[in-house]
Amino acid sequence: MVGGRPILRQVCVPCDKALPTEARPEALAWLQGLYSKFDPELVALAAKMVEVTADIDRRRLSAGCADFDGELLYILIREQRPRLIYELSPNAGHSTAYMLAAIEQNGFGYVKGFELDAALGGNTLETIRRTAGAVGSFDRYRLVLGDATQTVPKELEKDGEGPDFILLDSVHEDYFARFYFDILLSRLKATVMIQDVVHYDPRPEGSTEADYVLRVLGDSGTPYLPLAHYEDLLSPQRSELSPRRPVRSSSVLLESPVSWRDNPEAPDYSDTAWGHLLKLEGLLSRGAADRVVAAFDPVPHAESTKGCEIPSRLAVVGSKVNMTSAVIDWSARARAAARDTTHAAGYRSLLRCADAYLRIGMRNEATESICEAARYLKVRPAVDRGKIRREMLELAGACPRLLPSLIRSGGVGTLAATRHMGLKMLKDMARPFVRWGRSAFTGLA
Ligand SMILES: C[S@@+](CC[C@H](N)C(=O)[O-])C[C@H]1O[C@@H](n2cnc3c(N)ncnc32)[C@H](O)[C@@H]1O
Repeated sequence: MVGGRPILRQVCVPCDKALPTEARPEALAWLQGLYSKFDPELVALAAKMVEVTADIDRRRLSAGCADFDGELLYILIREQRPRLIYELSPNAGHSTAYMLAAIEQNGFGYVKGFELDAALGGNTLETIRRTAGAVGSFDRYRLVLGDATQTVPKELEKDGEGPDFILLDSVHEDYFARFYFDILLSRLKATVMIQDVVHYDPRPEGSTEADYVLRVLGDSGTPYLPLAHYEDLLSPQRSELSPRRPVRSSSVLLESPVSWRDNPEAPDYSDTAWGHLLKLEGLLSRGAADRVVAAFDPVPHAESTKGCEIPSRLAVVGSKVNMTSAVIDWSARARAAARDTTHAAGYRSLLRCADAYLRIGMRNEATESICEAARYLKVRPAVDRGKIRREMLELAGACPRLLPSLIRSGGVGTLAATRHMGLKMLKDMARPFVRWGRSAFTGLA
């Protein structure tokens, strides 16, 4: 029996139809125990990973592994001592580094990575060697290039018993989840981490992969541990660890085999703030403003709703049906939550709040929110500024009233804003001619 697996099964939560909202004391105690056991190793590794992460950022290899996920990968592999780890997919090897460091300490086992892109940072194997080889022995690493849906079945045949530890962070689409449940998780006995599934709000990640994973886990009654619920609770144990990629984990941990069946039933989110938000947004998109007003309150589990995504979206819904108090309350909550520097995309929520304030005529609050979004960039050195500025400009394109405040706050440069708006105007002007040209061409053909 692999070390630690029976404990993992005991502390995981079966979530039949809805999202897990609370941390479990047994699971917390288990994780606290693991952190204490490997504390000196984690402190040393985190310090090394600061440099590894900075190197990845300098080379503009943007993917990466959240700090909490990396730590969990390390301590689980140390505790369980797996023989063979499958990683789908390593990208530049940030998550691989944590795993290879643990394998090196174990003096046992190896990691097999499955990656589509052969040219990451010029040459993917060399890039992973530079990243993961900096903290672990590269002799214990194999890279399989190609589409994982083709390469994994072939490698499984060669590997006999198959992996006993699996990390999944590859294609965030349902076809890929269906593939890995079918070929790996329904057949093998392994510890599995699936990244990008459920946030601490609680809210599912917005991908068809996450939707499919939660359907399968709920439908089959498979116990799983939503890591996001434990991150804050473990702050005392993590306080000595240098921050590397401080974004929140949205991973789940489980044990396979999972009794998978295709076309799993959808979870029922109706008694969650997330489900309520989706219902209100649905009513709004159908133009049923009166029903939105009637149904808005009470928001289920409002008091335990965390983060800034759900509150900022509730504020936008409120603004579209002129519910001033809802905009004020939910925007305040979103703005407070966005001060937490571990949100990867809190600036988006701040811009959303600005948009909601403007809609109900609260210009000063809108400007403040925009300034907060611009400050957000300054306190997060590792964020992808280019991408965020593009998103800011897109928002300004959809809501030009925000543009002057965005420029004043330093969120976007005047030149970039003028260019973006000019191009947008040209495109808008050209659209009727393009449409006319297309229909004339179709008519002629
Ligand atoms: C989110 S990144 C992985 C990040 C990585 N875990 C880390 O710590 O940086 C997803 C990776 O999946 C790879 N990928 C996408 N489609 C794939 C496929 N069909 N087979 C294998 N890899 C694939 C991408 O090239 C990308 O490198």
